Amino acid sequence: MANHILIKDVVKDFNKKIEVSSDKSISIRVVLLASQAVGISKISNLLESEDVLNALKAIKKLGINYNKKGKKYFIEGYGLNGFNIKKNTTINAGNSGTLARLLLGLLSKSKTEVRIVGDKSLSKRDFSRVIKPLKLFGVNIRSKNSLLPIKILGTDFLKPISYIENIGSAQVKSCIILSALNTPGVTVINSKKSRNHTELMLKHLKYPISIKQKNTYEKISIKGLTQYNSFEYDIPGDISSASFFIVLTILSKNSRITIKNVNINKSRLGIVYILNKMGAEIKIKNKKKYNGEEIANIEVKSKKNLKALNCPSKLNSSAIDEFLIIFLVAAKAKGVSKFKNLGEMNKKESKRLDIGVEFLKLIGIKVDRYKDDIKIYGNPNLILSKNYEMKNFLKDHRVFFLSCITALTLGGKWKINDKDSINTSFPSFLRTLKIIGAKIN
Ligand code: S3P
Repeated sequence: MANHILIKDVVKDFNKKIEVSSDKSISIRVVLLASQAVGISKISNLLESEDVLNALKAIKKLGINYNKKGKKYFIEGYGLNGFNIKKNTTINAGNSGTLARLLLGLLSKSKTEVRIVGDKSLSKRDFSRVIKPLKLFGVNIRSKNSLLPIKILGTDFLKPISYIENIGSAQVKSCIILSALNTPGVTVINSKKSRNHTELMLKHLKYPISIKQKNTYEKISIKGLTQYNSFEYDIPGDISSASFFIVLTILSKNSRITIKNVNINKSRLGIVYILNKMGAEIKIKNKKKYNGEEIANIEVKSKKNLKALNCPSKLNSSAIDEFLIIFLVAAKAKGVSKFKNLGEMNKKESKRLDIGVEFLKLIGIKVDRYKDDIKIYGNPNLILSKNYEMKNFLKDHRVFFLSCITALTLGGKWKINDKDSINTSFPSFLRTLKIIGAKIN
């Protein structure tokens, strides 16, 4: 079957209520934390995307059983490091940096060596950011140039560490937290703020973890070797998936959308602050607390007269996966938008900063780039009419989504390759677009 789609019409006025796929970060964490709990955890609305299915396959290979009854997943844990690992075990983390990095943390006390591999994109990503702290714990890790494949063998002699995490990476922070679970004593992380789902989940499970706020940093202390019980979790919608529908609505004419049941954790809400500063009217309604997180409906309407923004880089981490789609709004805004210190974007599933700049140029937008800073010269009258083809983006799901939203709002005739990339995070993406009235071949 063809692995591309064709879009040649912008979407017509719509007024819809939708749901987006479940949160990927939370789904992966729930699977991994359930694998370390005592007893059977029950999980509803687990995201059934490739990254999460790879997390389930990974725990199974490590000796943790799970099954699915109806729509619920049941995962049976045997407590911390309760893995049962066969010799020569290889785990394929596929496209997921989160899975590979968090798993390395969980394996800090494994008795058998495990090899971790990934797909073409993940095999290009740097793992020194997690290898360094894990070595300080005393874990044995082997790799060539800090790239996958990585071989990890845990130790019974883990030492607690005190670590400064100044990338602002939740993957690094979570890897250290998970390794700390297996480590006697108190591990301390001074971490530049980033998404905090791991910490909130452990707090909810009454795990001894403390978090002290210090301006742009947090001091996290984790007391190791405490067992926790199995749990139930109903996974909310993913703000990163919702962001494509938020922008679709803002840039379409006379349209409205309500996106139901989305996780609105502050450490993920950068897109809402940024787009509202640019003149959008994104509203958060019916807020509810759930297991330490917050969930709400998001309401958005079309917006003309968007204005450029000088984006404070302290928002970078809370919008890190959303900048590609934010750039599209900047392309339609009046004035010159500025974004700084976005080097981390180039360390994702593809080199997203490079691709974002190329993409803007492809659609006729002037961009100045200096190292990791960019200026986008917006054009509120931008309309596309040429033929465009998107290929060679390392099957990055978010580049695929960006291309679709551009085609559906700005026009042009688009051929977008690597449709399968949607399975990484949002398998129902095209179906949801069709609910809104998008014509896609
Ligand atoms: C994620 C953290 C972010 C994000 C990724 C998911 C997570 O990566 O880009 O898509 O679930 O922890 P970094 O922590 O490396 O910035």
